[in-house]
Amino acid sequence: MEVSSTINALKEVITSFESPASANELSTLKRERLLAQLSSLVFKLERPVDAANRLWAQQMPAAMVKVAIESGLIGELAKRGEQGSGVGHSEDELAKAIGAEPSLIGRILRYLAAQGLVDEVDVGVFAANEKTVAFAGSGFQGCIEFFFDIITPVYQEIPAYFAARKYRSPASVVDTAFQAGLKTSEPAFVWMQQRPEVMGSFMRYMTVQHYGKADWLTLFPLEKELATWTNSQEKAVFVDVGGGMGHQCVVLKQRYPQLQGRVVLQDLPEVIPHAQLPPGIEKAAINFLENQPEKGAKFYYLRNILHDWPDKDVLTILKNIRDAMDKDSRILIDELVLAAKGSPLLPLQMDILMMLNVGAAERTLEQWQALFDQAGLKIENKYQYTEISADTLLVVAQK
Ligand SMILES: C[S@@+](CC[C@H](N)C(=O)[O-])C[C@H]1O[C@@H](n2cnc3c(N)ncnc32)[C@H](O)[C@@H]1O
Repeated sequence: MEVSSTINALKEVITSFESPASANELSTLKRERLLAQLSSLVFKLERPVDAANRLWAQQMPAAMVKVAIESGLIGELAKRGEQGSGVGHSEDELAKAIGAEPSLIGRILRYLAAQGLVDEVDVGVFAANEKTVAFAGSGFQGCIEFFFDIITPVYQEIPAYFAARKYRSPASVVDTAFQAGLKTSEPAFVWMQQRPEVMGSFMRYMTVQHYGKADWLTLFPLEKELATWTNSQEKAVFVDVGGGMGHQCVVLKQRYPQLQGRVVLQDLPEVIPHAQLPPGIEKAAINFLENQPEKGAKFYYLRNILHDWPDKDVLTILKNIRDAMDKDSRILIDELVLAAKGSPLLPLQMDILMMLNVGAAERTLEQWQALFDQAGLKIENKYQYTEISADTLLVVAQK
């Protein structure tokens, strides 16, 4: 990436930040493009010692954010509701409010400010910013709890795990680094389902995983696609397969209150009772590895589902849906599509995470195509969220 193009992109951001009204409107595309350019510039500037300093501290931020959440510090700053106003609070005042030692709170806040998670407005004076407020909420707290409590022990096992398997990819969902880290012989999802507090953190995180990003309804011409669909009252217009707490069904109903056809949330029997849904959305407990009970639906929507499974299970899930489809049905797959070369870090991070915990993977377009082909399906259309992100909506039909 050219340094001059980064500088031009930076100038544009600086101009937009000089006019506070437009600062928040910096488009997702521009922000993503600039973040990618800046990370690439940071890596070019780094000397080996800078890389070492970055690497040795990798586990620290999540641990310190967890302390800030559990001590009540993040909540205390956020609840004052003044983010963006420049009004700050002293470390003494904040420490007193949560019953902690001021000097410790000051050290933690300075560290969080250096991570961009709070603003340091004066010596020993701190204010909440947008991220402070986000981490005071249960969704982002779920992210920290899940990754710190559950995934950190997995990281510790990675080198020994791969050495013992002579550097081969996991061959089974019950022989991944997850089993080594959590000392279990169960697949990750089975292990999680037996621990409601773990499943709770994970599901809360799922509700904010795409926070601030466009959703599939802004990409996909739903009304146009439905114009030629002959609806029968019994058929579902939208089935969210493995939809967790059902937030996609809720958004769909809010956006299209007059939508004809049933809207169905499907998930495991252990998960479905926890979904709190408004009237008009049905819940169904299923196991998508066994069958797809909803026949002839217009859209089967799968977000962040197939990347959780190795190829053989992906084929089972897809074939079960294919058998339930009729000719007008489409599967909407909302997943990452990995760039074959030069991918940004986040999709690659997700790829490794999937391998470590569930023996699965993020996939390139060619890998997706090969799987659809084997399942008797084909890609009919493809919508990319932004030119930078790998987030993509694949529209898949029967072959
Ligand atoms: C990564 S989460 C994605 C949730 C949701 N689609 C989203 O994007 O927020 C995976 C979901 O698949 C569900 N799941 C896992 N195994 C399943 C199975 N065999 N049958 C049905 N749902 C399953 C989990 O309970 C979880 O809600």
